[in-house]
Amino acid sequence: MKKKVSAVITEQTELAPHIYSLRLKTELAAYACPGQFIGIYPRDGSRLLMRPISICDADNEELRMVYRAGGKGTIEISSYKEGDTLDILGVLGNGYDINAVSGKKVLLLGGGIGIPPMLYAAKKLKSAGIDCNAVLGYADGNTFLKDDFESVCPTFVASMDGSVGTKGTVIDAINAEDLKGDAFFSCGPMPMLKAVKAYAAEHSMKAYISLEERMACGVGACLGCVVKTNETDGHTHVKNTRICTEGPVFEAEVVDI
Ligand SMILES: Cc1cc2nc3c(=O)[nH]c(=O)nc-3n(C[C@H](O)[C@H](O)[C@H](O)COP(=O)(O)OP(=O)(O)OC[C@H]3O[C@@H](n4cnc5c(N)ncnc54)[C@H](O)[C@@H]3O)c2cc1C
Ligand code: FES
Repeated sequence: MKKKVSAVITEQTELAPHIYSLRLKTELAAYACPGQFIGIYPRDGSRLLMRPISICDADNEELRMVYRAGGKGTIEISSYKEGDTLDILGVLGNGYDINAVSGKKVLLLGGGIGIPPMLYAAKKLKSAGIDCNAVLGYADGNTFLKDDFESVCPTFVASMDGSVGTKGTVIDAINAEDLKGDAFFSCGPMPMLKAVKAYAAEHSMKAYISLEERMACGVGACLGCVVKTNETDGHTHVKNTRICTEGPVFEAEVVDI
């Protein structure tokens, strides 16, 4: 299901400085999978492009997104209140394949604004009876969504300034807590994803990573979001893939990051 609809805001709350929890009542909620995203359109005509935001949670009626209001579009989106409407396009992309990790133990790694999609993944893994732990990496003591994770699965925290949990990154927390697993589901900044890919290769683990890079159309038309894969074709010897349609979730070993 992919279409543009108007959705009613049922919650707009600031969880931490500039980090907002947005709930939207929409028929699209029934089709959402973890790792997928929606495009939210600012209303201001000078900001034409949708803002891609991951699905943090969903039931049959509502989508929840948690986002940072940093640039013009997201700051505008954060100004709307309960009862207002937003145009959204969704649901977009390919998410985490829960069946691929059946019978395995999954470590969910979220860094910064890559933390939100891990919550829906944790819930879906739990309801499929798949063992998981969450490891959340924050900049500081603003541990948004930590309580939500703790109600779903064992949760470990790292912070760059050392104010909560292990000082450092999610990889530092894995080492400090001696966490073991068969696969990673991961979303976060590129340096973190590179470290996750390297750790997985070293420890013979599978890593599924979500690439939240710049996007424009969100539907495969503009090629503004391509990433190189490690596959080649006989003609050009390189093979690109589109993050918005083939991703944003990829097996780490497939993409050249
Ligand atoms: C698949 C995916 C999922 C994402 N999920 C989340 C999420 O759950 N929470 C969250 O806070 N952020 C998420 N992001 C990042 C979010 O889309 C950008 O922070 C946001 O689009 C920036 O818009 P702006 O109005 O704040 O900034 P502006 O500077 O006004 O943006 C200008 C243009 O650049 C694009 N752009 C700028 N930065 C990014 C970026 N990092 N990724 C994609 N497009 C960008 C915008 O969409 C817009 O078209 C996600 C990105 C992708 C690709
Ligand atoms: S954003 Fe246009 S092809 Fe991906």
